[in-house]
Amino acid sequence: FPIADFQSDLIDWFLREKRDLPWRKDQDPYKVWVSEIMLQQTRVDTVIPYFNAFIAKFPSIESLAEANEEEVLKAWEGLGYYSRVRNLQTAVKEVKESYGGIVPNTPEELGKLKGVGPYTKGAILSIAYNIPEPAVDGNVMRVLSRILSIWEDIAKPKSRKLFETAIYELISKEDPSSFNQALMELGALICTPTSPSCLLCPVREHCAAFSEGVQQELPIKSKK
Ligand code: ADE
Repeated sequence: FPIADFQSDLIDWFLREKRDLPWRKDQDPYKVWVSEIMLQQTRVDTVIPYFNAFIAKFPSIESLAEANEEEVLKAWEGLGYYSRVRNLQTAVKEVKESYGGIVPNTPEELGKLKGVGPYTKGAILSIAYNIPEPAVDGNVMRVLSRILSIWEDIAKPKSRKLFETAIYELISKEDPSSFNQALMELGALICTPTSPSCLLCPVREHCAAFSEGVQQELPIKSKK
């Protein structure tokens, strides 16, 4: 299908319909980083107040790097998975020491930071730095498995690579930040797990699963 039409249909919808979320107020790489770490195991509605309080308390790399660990853990209290915030503070200290407090903008450097896996790395590069890198999580795999009719088991660890390769082909080079966020937003608002709202979908005319009527059967996700 015509990739340029797909990109503009998706991005125009996102720019029109995107939720007004606190981490979307600017493209500060530190805030993008904090939000993506919080959002990894926690729902958007739960994250919002924690994100606002955390950023009010630790507004910058510098402030989080220098903060007392107990205070940092306290700001995370209730979110769970505390290794997330321990790793985040370790990594932020590394950014302060080795990169002068500037979040690096290469996959190589970012990937070395504690707790920054392929998803978080791609999210920071694309959302904050406008670099066309994939940010593939379970939601993005669901959306793409439908659009492209990919019948690969998304529960298998090696499947992510296949989806990343597909994103490299599809991602907008003009606005990779909106493109990746649009895929996440589509997964949250329209292309939901059990009953996707295809009639409201901005890219249904580009969607292989919709045209075949198999959107409810995808993605394939084995129990692990
Ligand atoms: N889920 C993961 N990352 C997200 C983001 N940046 N906005 C909304 N939901 C998300």
